[in-house]
Amino acid sequence: MTSTEYCAHISDDGCILTLQQAAGNTATVGGPLRFHAIWLRDNARDASTRSPENGQRLITLKDLPKHLSISQGQCHGETLHVTFQPDNVHIDFDVPWLLQHAYDTAIAGTPARARGWTCDTCETWDAGLGQQLPDNDFSAVMQCRSTRQDWLQQVQRYGFARLSNGPVEEEALFQVVALFGFVRETNYGRLFNVRTEVNPTNLAFTGLGLQAHTDNPYRDPVPTLQVLYCLENSATGGENMVVDGFRAVERLRAENSRWFDVLSRYCANFEYAGDPSVSLQSRCPMIELSPDGELRAVRFNNRSAAAITDVPFDEMEFYYDAYRRLGELVDDPAMQVTFKLSPGDCFIVDNTRVLHARKGYSGQGSRWLQGCYADKDGLYSTLRAMQQHP
Ligand code: FE2
Repeated sequence: MTSTEYCAHISDDGCILTLQQAAGNTATVGGPLRFHAIWLRDNARDASTRSPENGQRLITLKDLPKHLSISQGQCHGETLHVTFQPDNVHIDFDVPWLLQHAYDTAIAGTPARARGWTCDTCETWDAGLGQQLPDNDFSAVMQCRSTRQDWLQQVQRYGFARLSNGPVEEEALFQVVALFGFVRETNYGRLFNVRTEVNPTNLAFTGLGLQAHTDNPYRDPVPTLQVLYCLENSATGGENMVVDGFRAVERLRAENSRWFDVLSRYCANFEYAGDPSVSLQSRCPMIELSPDGELRAVRFNNRSAAAITDVPFDEMEFYYDAYRRLGELVDDPAMQVTFKLSPGDCFIVDNTRVLHARKGYSGQGSRWLQGCYADKDGLYSTLRAMQQHP
């Protein structure tokens, strides 16, 4: 990079610095990018603003002059030299860092993002994902850093990934969680056992199927990851099934955007009081969006849905139409990826996105899974650190 690649212009009042490519430069930064003086000063990365040791900010906003302006701004190579007034402070900025963190993105012609947009690292899917099931070998993920990174990226991209050929031993699922973070303990313990003896003479143990669901929507915050690890599976049937809740609500939006809106605008209620020492409740929407419309979470669990009381009377029937249609989409085989776990296999789901279910099973045999919860922010942190420090 040469010193002529970028240049800076200061507005007459000194409140805005515009960074743009110098004439003749063929690299692209996507057009001129404006930065406010206060934003630049607050985001300075010099040693008096940020700790060189841990990167944490050393100042608060009240340490900065209220009426900041820029008197000088010049680019030299990848460095932008800025002089701030009224305190005549000189600070250098890294141009690539500024380009990466630019917020002046409301450029004419850029289409507004639809409510329910997802970020670039997320790829929604339907039954077709079964042809290329995200799967890795347990030992390879344990021993090989790049394979482990690939697996974590699969979890981020699809909200779901399998691991195969692990040890057939109790608590092996904790080895999986240790790859990226920590177990989230709940009133069900550090782990829970999902164990059924199949006995066709006793209808109580016929292994009925379950509708696809997200776990524990009655918790706030909800457990964001779940690991299910197979220790026995000799019964006929009993496959696991997963559905991308994000794809389901995308379909719902495409069919009728008002269905999508009503499930995201109003809170549902969820509760669990399975024993006298527990009374869990949450009040959250089935489709959760961030303030700017990003799809953040789907909650869907008929067993723990409580009475819905936050939908206006005149919209309740329409809400139920939307809720019913979302259930139909979840139940649509075209949305479902089905697979059978052998002892030593496991899978992980993003419980804010991917619904899971158990198909019914019958005949002789037994089925034993161990499950636990963990936190997605820890997984993302591990993945990001691996990407930043190859
Ligand atoms: Fe579940």
